[in-house]
Order: sequence, then C-alpha cells, then structure tokens
Amino acid sequence: MLATWSFSARGCKLAWPKLSSGGGALDAVCTVAREAEANSEVDSVGFGGLPDVIGRISLDACVMMSPERCGSVCAVTRHLHVADLARLVMERTNHVMLVGEGADSFADAMGMPVAELLSADARQAWERWRSGEKTTRPTDQGVDSGKLFSKSPSPIGEKHIPHDTVGVLAIDTQGVMAGACSTSGMPFKLAGRVGDSPIPGHGIYVDPEGGGAVATGMGEFVMGVSGSFLAVECMRRGSTPLDAVREVLERIERRHKPLAHQQVGIIALSTDGKWSAGALCPGFAVTISDASGIRSVAPELVLRPEV
Ligand code: GLY
Repeated sequence: MLATWSFSARGCKLAWPKLSSGGGALDAVCTVAREAEANSEVDSVGFGGLPDVIGRISLDACVMMSPERCGSVCAVTRHLHVADLARLVMERTNHVMLVGEGADSFADAMGMPVAELLSADARQAWERWRSGEKTTRPTDQGVDSGKLFSKSPSPIGEKHIPHDTVGVLAIDTQGVMAGACSTSGMPFKLAGRVGDSPIPGHGIYVDPEGGGAVATGMGEFVMGVSGSFLAVECMRRGSTPLDAVREVLERIERRHKPLAHQQVGIIALSTDGKWSAGALCPGFAVTISDASGIRSVAPELVLRPEV
C-alpha cells in the first residue's frame, strides 16, 4: 500500500493488518481516506480542512478500481466521509460523478450522517486570512503558507503544502488494486472551484492493465496534463513507476512553468507491486506499507532539488 504524505500513516496502521491478512484493497484505501477525513489536524482533508473564500468548506473524493469501476463526488458540504460516498456512487449507481447538493442528497438517501465540516481552527485561519494576514489572492498557491499553515519540522524533510490530498493505492492478496483520494481542495479557493482529485485520470487513475497513480498539490497543473492517467499509461506501455512519475513531473514543468514554491507530488504503483513517488520540489513524503512495515519516506525523485 502506498499513500501520499506522512499523515496517512495513521490510516495505514489501521488498514494494513486487514489488507495483509486477506482484506480487500478497496476497504483498505477507504479506511486510510476515512482516517484522514476525521483527523482535524489535517487541514487539507475532511474535518479541519480549510474553507473557500466565503468561509465554506467543500470536499472532493474519488475511488477507482478500473476504467469501468470508478466513483466520484465533488463540492460536498454536509457529509464527512466523501471517499465512502464516492464508493457508494461506484457501487450503487450507474454514474461516475455526483456534484454539490446532488452528492449531499445522495449521501442522505444512503443514510450517511450529516456532519459539521468546518473546525474552529479552520474557521480562525479563514478569519485571519480574510482580515488581512493574506499575502496572496485565493487563486495563488499559498505563497504565504509558512505563516498560515506552519507545522513542526519533519525528520524526513516533509513540508506542509496548502492542498495535500490524501491519496492511497493498494494491492490485496488476490492481486486486486484499488485507489482512493480525498481533499478539501485549495484553501480559500474561489467558491465552486474543484481541483484534480475527484476527476478520474487527473488526480487519480487505476487500471489493472497498467497500475495506479494519485497526485497531490496544485490540481490545476495536474489537470492540465491528465497527470494520473499519463503515469498509468506510461506504465501500461512498459515504463517503470519512476519513469512514469518523471514523465508527469517533467511535462508539468515544461508546460505550466510552476513557480519555485508550487508543488505537485505523485505516487505510482505497478500491477506487480513496484512503486515510486516524485515531486516538483522538496517537501513531499510518501507512506509505504509492506512486509517490512509502515514508514514515511522522501520521494525517489525531486525534479528541482535545489528549490
Ligand atoms: N490536489 C488537490 C486540489 O488541487 O484540489
């Protein structure tokens, strides 16, 4: 199992014992997403996520097992466990994506509990941002992230970035692969903005013929190159996970010309369990769960290590 960021380790510790003793990959990835969604200390996913420009939090998520089995929700405002909701879209409807009030109504119909999504800390961060601590427009990517989003120093050099999607890929003992991702999106985004995470092929892609990939960071860049599809397609055509990750990051670098602080991280898992992870600049981390245990490490590739 491979997941974005070190904060996913808590969910991996819950999911790994079942996955490694015969549990399903889809259950495992949803467990990891659910844990991050409930963790108020993660300010980019679920409860505790930072709101949009008008102070309203909205959540996006996707689960995927193959091009034929995928579910997604965008701009959910009343329900917390959006990866589970995306799974219900996949399992109980003949649609792929539900948006906004339609997604919330579907959650009501499925019996999911309504939840308050905005934490006191997130509201205060928004109030500080609104009252002038901000140094950027909402459409910029957190130039001021050190001020608003600072976290304790990490031993693996991980730096918090403003929209750190939890993304997870798993292969179970039956050889079935599943992926999930969940995010509150860019902090202080324009109302209505949706990023890459809930869109199959952009923030996440899983194809048993090629492998899986999930992206985190600046969704607008990932969407511009269909980042996760591109990584999986590279693997389907024979690339290693490392080369697939490099292709995505180099294409983002070439086409979008990101500023120094603008980050994208991507994880890739091949169908035979080989994996890699990469990022545009230092600060990304990935959590691995395998026979050697659960650990968070720096990615194999950093395109601009000098930044
Ligand atoms: N990568 C998450 C987002 O941009 O919303």
